[in-house]
Amino acid sequence: MLSRTLIVATLLALAGCATTPLSTGTNAVASAHPLATQAGLQALQTGGNAFDAAIATAAVLAVVEPYSAGMGGGGFWLLQKRNRETVMIDARETAPGQSHPDMYLNEAGEVRSDQPSLNGPLAAGIPGQPAAFAHINRLYAERPLRANLAAAIRLARQGFRIDERYRDLASWRRKVLRQHPDSARVFLHKGKVPETGTLLRQPALADTLEQLAEDGAEGFYSGPVARQLVEDVQAAGGIWTKADLAAYQIIERDPVTIRYRDAVIQTASLPSSGGMALAQMFGMMAERPITELYPEPDAVDRIHYRTELMRRAYRDRARHMGDPAYTDVPRERLRSSDYLARQAGSIEPLTASDSRTLFDAGTGGRHTTHLSVLDSDGRRVSATLSINWPFGSGFLSGQTGILLNNEMNDFAIKPGVPNAYGLVGGKANQVEAGKRPLSSMSPTLIDTPQRSAIIGTPGGSRIISMVFLGLLDVMDGHPAGAIVSRPRYHHQYQPDQIQHEPEAFTPDQRFRLQALGHRLENVGREYGNMQLILTDHTSGQTQAVADPRGIGQAIAQPVD
Ligand code: DON
Repeated sequence: MLSRTLIVATLLALAGCATTPLSTGTNAVASAHPLATQAGLQALQTGGNAFDAAIATAAVLAVVEPYSAGMGGGGFWLLQKRNRETVMIDARETAPGQSHPDMYLNEAGEVRSDQPSLNGPLAAGIPGQPAAFAHINRLYAERPLRANLAAAIRLARQGFRIDERYRDLASWRRKVLRQHPDSARVFLHKGKVPETGTLLRQPALADTLEQLAEDGAEGFYSGPVARQLVEDVQAAGGIWTKADLAAYQIIERDPVTIRYRDAVIQTASLPSSGGMALAQMFGMMAERPITELYPEPDAVDRIHYRTELMRRAYRDRARHMGDPAYTDVPRERLRSSDYLARQAGSIEPLTASDSRTLFDAGTGGRHTTHLSVLDSDGRRVSATLSINWPFGSGFLSGQTGILLNNEMNDFAIKPGVPNAYGLVGGKANQVEAGKRPLSSMSPTLIDTPQRSAIIGTPGGSRIISMVFLGLLDVMDGHPAGAIVSRPRYHHQYQPDQIQHEPEAFTPDQRFRLQALGHRLENVGREYGNMQLILTDHTSGQTQAVADPRGIGQAIAQPVD
């Protein structure tokens, strides 16, 4: 009976009557840390809805995963209400008012070798995360903000135990953390990475969270916290001003909606490139299905075909995409069927394309974190949040406990010069005051007549290809555990190579892909940290799974 209701609900939604709730009768949270998942579930059990739970989960992640996302960063949240309306909360960082296109170049016009777009306070955009908490809580949540921040405040004040993942990422960023005394004081012990099990306390961060709980966004963006932040940042050579903080605004946007076969996918819109790139890849698949290239495709045919889709979408990302408030992105043209048919038409079944000769539109880790939440009334949240690199810029404002992001590196700091993820870009994504850097973060919802899923992952430029492969697996009916653990591969146009996890291909597949002309680049480690909640409409069952590559936890709890 239950399953029939769900099927009817889904079919109505797919038919455009998106008003019937996706009543699963299950609360579920999947996040990258057990303490965060537990805080989210607790919110659901004590009067909160999915939006309360998402805030509680994200706030704890900001404390216990200081390397991944936090109050000094930003992100994108897809919120789906009971009536199935979905809104995207754009909490992306903005470039400070004194930013300009050449700010990371030396006098010769070359990228500065000391990498100020990655390390130290010049790397940081104005954070959006505190504003997102206040905004979502005010408009969508049931519980007071203080209740949703309580677990995070307690963990910041009383401390949490350092785990292996913390140690890995702190070791990787130790050099920059040591350069900033307050970062070293909080995140290191006598200049060394603390042992597993050490209690890490962040009392200044607890105070700042209290201010936010007390006064909402103003508690962060004006008043004493803002003053202290600006003092600390400027004393260390940064350019933030009180006016930059006061001007920060959340933007509510429509998500990108993709219809492919019987699936409806909702995902991040600009200034994340994720939605546009996914729309292009699915659009090319619709224009030229794989069976037009191979009557009976095998695994290598599929890898080749999907790689070529990625290559083409990432090229348009590099050429055309940026903050839509600053750049006229030819969105309609990039999604038009004649353009996508032409792009897909250039895929050769037996040869890898050369990234340099693609047709143009002619117009113009392990760090970062994802959380997925479902409540028993069918509200859904898919949120990807970031401070960019592990420990962001490495600079902690001592007075406020805020660790600054290094999201400025997501801009094209010089046209054609790859950023930290090897992504190239041009004028569309150059640094400009007040602008949001182009992102790849792609929190996503998908509904088919058979299944519904909440999906997302960190992983820099590879986020989009991971979500793409995950969505295809959802549509193909793969089990939840297999979807998050599947070996991954990726192509991003430049560098012109298939990047892959060590175990992604069999020797025979490698041989055949190379014979097609693909360059294979084993990245030497696993990547991504996917958090998936999957509802099967036939059985009525919801499963939540955390990527085995991480230390996350996912729990699905039926509600009586
Ligand atoms: O917005 C972006 O695309 C990046 N700042 C995301 C960074 C990320 O996922 C790092 N994870 N490994």
